[in-house]
Amino acid sequence: AGTQAGANAAHPMWSSRLAFILAASGSAVGLGNIWKFPYITGENGGGAFVLVYLVCIALIGIPIMMAEVAIGRRGGRSPINSMRQLAQRDGRSKRWAWIGGMGMLSSYLILSFYSVIGGWALAYVGKSAGGLFVGASTEQIGAQFGALLSDPYSLLLWHSVFMALVIMIVARGVTAGMEKAINILMPLLFVLLLVMVGYALSTDRFADGISFLFTPDFSKLSTEGVLTALGHAFFTLSLGMGVMMAYGSYLPKHVSIAKTAVTVSVVDTVVALLAGMAIFPIVFSSGLEPGAGPGLIFNTLPIAFGQMPGGVLFGTLFFILLVVAAVTSAISLLEPVVEWFEEQKGYSRLRCTLVGGISIWALGLLTILSLNAWSGFHPLGFIARFADKTIFDLLDYATANLMMPLGGFFIALFVGWFMSKQAAENELSFGNPLAFKLFMFVLRFITPAAVLLVFVYNLI
Ligand code: PHE
Ligand code: NA
Repeated sequence: AGTQAGANAAHPMWSSRLAFILAASGSAVGLGNIWKFPYITGENGGGAFVLVYLVCIALIGIPIMMAEVAIGRRGGRSPINSMRQLAQRDGRSKRWAWIGGMGMLSSYLILSFYSVIGGWALAYVGKSAGGLFVGASTEQIGAQFGALLSDPYSLLLWHSVFMALVIMIVARGVTAGMEKAINILMPLLFVLLLVMVGYALSTDRFADGISFLFTPDFSKLSTEGVLTALGHAFFTLSLGMGVMMAYGSYLPKHVSIAKTAVTVSVVDTVVALLAGMAIFPIVFSSGLEPGAGPGLIFNTLPIAFGQMPGGVLFGTLFFILLVVAAVTSAISLLEPVVEWFEEQKGYSRLRCTLVGGISIWALGLLTILSLNAWSGFHPLGFIARFADKTIFDLLDYATANLMMPLGGFFIALFVGWFMSKQAAENELSFGNPLAFKLFMFVLRFITPAAVLLVFVYNLI
């Protein structure tokens, strides 16, 4: 695409828009879509939760993604410095830096458990390829997953392999090469999800699965569920922590931020919904519980792979693609931490990647132990709503449900109120002043109010 861009001066940046979309979708599409979305949808009663999640994507996620990309492109530096530089209306511009700091901490905490789950996917590549699902009953498949979780040594092995992969890629800085891979592998993931939906169609409970996903029943949605939906909108779009800001700094000036952000969000949402459409019919036709928790996809999809023709091939390919999707997201989590270390300490890239990566790997041990030896340890057990949450649950809760929405809230306020209006209009002009006014209204009032409302509603 580079030569094409050079040859055609009228569209010199075409390849860069695509490159941005690939990098941003690489970060967005990951375990959040295929592992987390289905299981939290199952835990929170289905349709009503999905509806609230979709509203959060549209009213909160997309505007905040646009705001982040705009800050990044305008500032053209690392997230913290971009915000410092752009806080023109704010005399004490230093105070915005803590948002960058919180983003860094979120990256750190998220990657520590993300890598453990990425390890599950790696383990399942081997199980699929080894034919362990062929003809296996629902119970046998459940037992295989249970055996993995109760064995800290295998979890540690796969977590280590996953983290080593991510560290190698980030240390070499070959992320640009990854874009080419994403270009091929993302469409392939999409096709495989369609195959799985095709299998789901052949089960006798397809209609029940679809209606679970898309028929809202608000009596099943708790206040906690609403916060989870909001938090997941941030998690799944990689928002509220500066990842999209960093990518935005590479976006060419004339590319429409609005269109690009909408494209990435739609891709991400479609992947999540397809995963749900593949999984819930299998859940119902196999007599499983939709609210079974984090093991949901590992207890359902292998049933399909064990029964469909070509299941060994499809299953192996599917889990390889899931690993790739997880690795591209993990890279976007480690990269900012490494850059920050480089800026702060001035060490070599290799050293910074090793220090960052290994400390995150070590933190991952907490998640591993939460799944077995420490599964009964509930550090915040004295608070009713956290009574049954393990360290892993708390890490997930603190990042997705608190830190990311809080970061996003301040990013919306920043672009809405503190960045110069000129700069904002310049970056976000839709070629239509009315559209810009509408967007600014949403960003100034609707988005922050919606985040606050969910927070307050959840507290009382
Ligand atoms: N968006 C990724 C996913 O859905 C997770 C992620 C969160 C990646 C935050 C980067 C930053 O899997
Ligand atoms: Na996602």
